[in-house]
Amino acid sequence: MEKYQKIIEDVYLEVKNMPQSGKVANYIPELAFVDPENFGINITTIDKESFGVGDFDKKFSVQSITKILSLTLAYKFEGVKIWDRVDVEPSGNPFNSLLQLEADLGKPRNPFINAGAIVICDVLVSHLKNPKEDFLDFCKEISNIPTLQYNEKVAQSEKASGYRNVALCNFIKSFGNIKNDVDVVLDFYFYMCSLEMTCKELSKIFLFLTIDNFTTQKGERVITESQTKRINAIMLTCGFYDESGEFAFRVGLPGKSGVGGGIVAILPDKYCIAVWSPKLNVKGNSYKGMLFLEKFTSKTTSSIF
Ligand code: DON
Repeated sequence: MEKYQKIIEDVYLEVKNMPQSGKVANYIPELAFVDPENFGINITTIDKESFGVGDFDKKFSVQSITKILSLTLAYKFEGVKIWDRVDVEPSGNPFNSLLQLEADLGKPRNPFINAGAIVICDVLVSHLKNPKEDFLDFCKEISNIPTLQYNEKVAQSEKASGYRNVALCNFIKSFGNIKNDVDVVLDFYFYMCSLEMTCKELSKIFLFLTIDNFTTQKGERVITESQTKRINAIMLTCGFYDESGEFAFRVGLPGKSGVGGGIVAILPDKYCIAVWSPKLNVKGNSYKGMLFLEKFTSKTTSSIF
């Protein structure tokens, strides 16, 4: 297993020295303050060995990566009924698109585009007494990281500028697929996206999707094996929006990106890896993050295919 440390260091140096491409997200003003040179990687194996390089221990805004966690909790509550509210098809459109919603009568294509994640937030608002606190507690429990926090500044910054999400939520409500007050749902959505984690923490929190018989510190299962399979499948087909095919083609793992520049990817029964580099390509996915993972899975010949 020690081999992982050497490999991530080698690939890190190779990619770090390559020319940077892309731009830091600035449509959420607070995200634009990040140092674009940050670059970190962490891998955690199913034996819970952890290997890191670069800025692997610095907190950043995980943004859409949190959508895996909200989907997990909603799936736990609702079981298969959740698929009446949101579909499992790749959208082939940008993450914040409104285009297909009208034709699809307010049922988002998948839970990872913003429209789908907002519906998932609505489901959670229906189930949780204090959505923000209870969701954070769920994240702490499955990760065994008691210090996880939202970033207040990032949440408020997105709340003040998230016009598209406001439009999406209202539009979906007009079809009856948002049951709660739109302001409550959006407030929860913005906070959920502002969750901060390090690469090390990210590669730990998603062990429940990596290890077959994963149980929390309390000895409880997070979701069933079948549900784990399905979430991994949606990550593979929808985790990178209209670049999901490209990610599967180049990296070959289920994964999920966020506009903070993070990516997590999972090789079931082996490892979870997290990469962070804030500059994004035109599809909103980390440029160096994708490059790193492509080289890493090629070098280790580890992919699901
Ligand atoms: O709703 C938004 O636009 C952000 N809070 C999250 C978007 C995101 O991370 C898309 N990921 N690549």
